[in-house]
Formats: sequence, structure tokens, C-alpha cells
Amino acid sequence: MAGYAPVVEVCSTMSAYDRWRLGVERCVVVPTMGALHRGHASLMEAARRARPEWPIVVTVFVNPTQFSEAADFERYPKTLDADAALCRDAGAACVLAPSAAEVYPRGPLAGVPPLPAVATRPGLEDRFRPGHFAGVCQVVRRLFEMTRPHAAIFGEKDWQQLQVIRAMVRELDLGVEIVASPTVREADGLAMSSRNRFLTAEDRTHGLALSRALREASQERTVARAEERMAVVLSGLDVEYAVIRDAESLEAWREGRPGRALIAARVGSVRLIDNAAWHPRDA
Ligand code: PAF
Repeated sequence: MAGYAPVVEVCSTMSAYDRWRLGVERCVVVPTMGALHRGHASLMEAARRARPEWPIVVTVFVNPTQFSEAADFERYPKTLDADAALCRDAGAACVLAPSAAEVYPRGPLAGVPPLPAVATRPGLEDRFRPGHFAGVCQVVRRLFEMTRPHAAIFGEKDWQQLQVIRAMVRELDLGVEIVASPTVREADGLAMSSRNRFLTAEDRTHGLALSRALREASQERTVARAEERMAVVLSGLDVEYAVIRDAESLEAWREGRPGRALIAARVGSVRLIDNAAWHPRDA
């Protein structure tokens, strides 16, 4: 464990955070929307592994500008006390849970940065959640401005988000190292998500098709066959996409490039996403 006390400072205002930050030379930030689970704890472990000497700051902010559906925003779970306890147990030094007024002092419409191509061209999350990446880029850039980190951790579960943030940081030269952390799964293979709590037992069983489709796609040697195989495994679900793409640009995959299998499907009242590396040479 790094050389800071196993207590967590919870700051709900920027003046409290700025006081804490004064004594800190460098920090690593884990941006979250709260409702934390084991997957988030693993992001904090990744932070500690990447930069053992830097204190970990966890931001908890349910960002209204990245939700395409008002109902999804309204029902997003808010569990700050439990979140702070999880952050403390996972070795975070500080939790910043700011108000919307502090995050967006000029209003929620101000400050959307230019979006990288990977946020608008692939026809994946950008197609099914219009406006989502404008909100994500806006809030991530703002949270970086507020917390002033030297590194930040993002989960691979939101694969397109990870590529969008990497591209934004590069294109805007934000000077923050982006570290990716692998998806954490339940024992049955379901990728962990704060929204899984809304799945019924039956939905949960149906939701296992996503990780099964990814496993089966990894056994195929061509994009067409891998996509067909995913479509078969996912038949019966309300599938938005199940595709093989270039792992970085998320555009069409070409021989020699790293590939990624990506799925989004609605199961009951929940939209599930999942992804995995795809290497035809391994098939
Ligand atoms: O991945 C998330 O939880 C959110 O999109 C993020 C990065 C915290 C921005 O609100």
C-alpha cells in the first residue's frame, strides 16, 4: 500500500478539494458516476499498480449531460456513503463528489470540446446514444481541470469511451496519462455494471448471451463468420450491434490490425454492453 493513511477524505466542494490537493504533488484520478462495485475497486487497484506512489482521487458525479434518456438519469443509483466506504477499503485517498453547479458553473451546455472521430464515426454507441460522447468528453475534460491529475484510469468495459478519451486527451494535449483496466466479470461471465441491479433473474440469464457470444466469436477466423456466430447466440435479444471492428478507430477491421468484438443489447429494462479482444490468428 502507498504511503498515505487508510482514511478517505470526502470533498463535496471544490474549496474542500483544493485544500486537500494543496498538499499533493501528483495524483491519479478514477472518474466514476458512483454506485460503486467490485469493478470500480479494480480500477482503484489498477491506479495503485500504475502509480503506487500517487494518491488516488475518485470522482463521484452522475453527469446529466451524457444520458440520452431522462429516465435512465433519474433512476441511476445514488449511494455516496457506501461509495466512500468502498473507496476507503480500496485505498483511495480522496473522494470528490461535486454538485452540478460546481462542475458546470456556466451551465450544462457550455464547454463541449471538439469530438474525436472515434466519438462520431463508428456507428456504435455514437449511433444508439446520440449526444453521449459530447457529455462524456465535456465532463471528463472538466473533471481533469478540477482534480488536476497526472494519470487517469478507465475501464475496458466501456471500450468506445476508452478510445474516445484517449483520442481527446491526445488531440487536446491534456497531458494526462490514460491507463486502461480490464473488465471485471461475475462468476457466470456477466460484465459488472452499476445497472445490473435492475436485471430480473430471467434477464440475467438472457444477459449471459453477451459474454457467450464474445467467447464464440473468438473461435472464428473471419469477421463475417464471427459476426454471424454472435448473431446466432444473441438471437432473441434486442441487439443494437454485435460487430468486429478495429480496436482503436472502431472502424472496419483490416488484416494485421488488433480487432475488438463489441456488443450492445437491451435485456429487460437494461441496456448491456460488452466487448473482447478479437484475434483471427488465435482461432
Ligand atoms: O464511465 C463512466 O462511469 C462515466 O462515463 C464517466 C467516465 C465517469 C464520465 O461521467
